[in-house]
Amino acid sequence: MKYYIKTFGCQMNFNDSERIKGILQTLGYEEVQNWKEADIILINTCTIREKPDQKVFSHLGEYKKVKEENPKAIIGVCGCLAQRMGFELVQKAQVVDIMFSSFNIHQLPELIQQAQAGYKAIAILENPPEDEEKLWNYPTVRENPYCAYVTVTKGCDKNCTYCVVPKTRGRQRSRSMESIIREVKRLVEDGVKEIHLLGQNVTAWGQDIGRHFSELLYEVAQIEGVKRIRFTTGHPKDLDEKIVKAISQIDKVCQHIHLPVQAGSNRILKLMDRGYTKEDYLEKIRMLKEYVKGITFSTDVIVGFPTETEEDFEETLDVLKKVRFEQVFSFKYSPRPDTPAYSMEGQVPDDIKTERMTRLLELQKTILADIAKSYEGTVQEVLIESFEDGNKLIGRTRTNRWASMNGSEELLGKIVKVKVIKSYPFSMECDLLVESQGGN
Ligand code: 5AD
Ligand code: SF4
Repeated sequence: MKYYIKTFGCQMNFNDSERIKGILQTLGYEEVQNWKEADIILINTCTIREKPDQKVFSHLGEYKKVKEENPKAIIGVCGCLAQRMGFELVQKAQVVDIMFSSFNIHQLPELIQQAQAGYKAIAILENPPEDEEKLWNYPTVRENPYCAYVTVTKGCDKNCTYCVVPKTRGRQRSRSMESIIREVKRLVEDGVKEIHLLGQNVTAWGQDIGRHFSELLYEVAQIEGVKRIRFTTGHPKDLDEKIVKAISQIDKVCQHIHLPVQAGSNRILKLMDRGYTKEDYLEKIRMLKEYVKGITFSTDVIVGFPTETEEDFEETLDVLKKVRFEQVFSFKYSPRPDTPAYSMEGQVPDDIKTERMTRLLELQKTILADIAKSYEGTVQEVLIESFEDGNKLIGRTRTNRWASMNGSEELLGKIVKVKVIKSYPFSMECDLLVESQGGN
């Protein structure tokens, strides 16, 4: 039996898909890259912006053809769009046999059985079930043998007025320290070197179980075999001095942080209910720069939130100029049903959003060109993740930049020192120096 899975959305969704693959492989299914060969086709959906919604329906239109040759084939939809739309989705796309969300991925084996018996297996729950921890009993199937995502929180306790996540993934549930440590140890035994802790708001891990995210960083760092630690996504409000100190004290934590600012205007930040001002945000950045030598930043920005004026937008540009992010993920504001911002007065016309977005991208391009240039001639530490074309090694620096160099396959999964020869916006050509000491 074969399965095909198509994933949209954020890293959390991709990690959910890795777990779904683990469940399917435990059941004896094998992954195929061509949906036409599959007995089960799953779409793991996202609903954060309008575009991913529309894509799902066009994919379903195509995938239904699988049933012409293989009438027993099962088509499933999971993830955030499934949670948000519920039965409405099945009415709109009758071809769907199975539906579940991130709340009940662990129920997939039973849902498949029901679908095979000819029933529609639709399990969209109002709230996460009590046994959702069962999910962690399944392995994940990962493409990258050396870097692994580990989900540590599900859901989100914030109420950003533009965001569907609290609706689609529920309130925050921190995974227990024991469960996380058990998985990290298993991954290390499997050859993983870099652990990437994941959560909608990872910096709030522990708040619902009387613990603090910094403790998790120290504990994961204790595990022998873990060489690098990263985490996403941090929330500026929860990123406190304790976390910043932990990042600076733990050598294994990489010098890069993704810290979504969303907007630079205090009026817009308030309307978004982000819980910080532009000054607060810049203060966190200052603190990070002070404690963590050489730290780099990336961020998310929303352009054209309701009532955003030219002056408001310029405040966002000002943050970009002041922080000098290495990467900016920018999105045009997309009104999502059932969110407070959906019905706010003063929705910004699309042509203005587009114009502002173009200017933002232009500015970021010049900032990034400068940053890229500043890497040339420097020495960086790279974890080698892949080997291509018979002699090319590719990996990431601690500051999260892609680097390539000539070298041999034995260096896969090793941490090496390189000198940067040529640096482009999103990649760098390097020369291998010596294999770093003690880290491998
Ligand atoms: N419209 C546009 N962008 C959004 N994001 C979240 N909700 C919306 C929305 N309604 C962006 C935010 C978030 C990223 C994952 O997606 O910038 O950090
Ligand atoms: Fe999309 Fe948000 Fe769901 Fe991730 S959590 S898949 S970004 S809606």
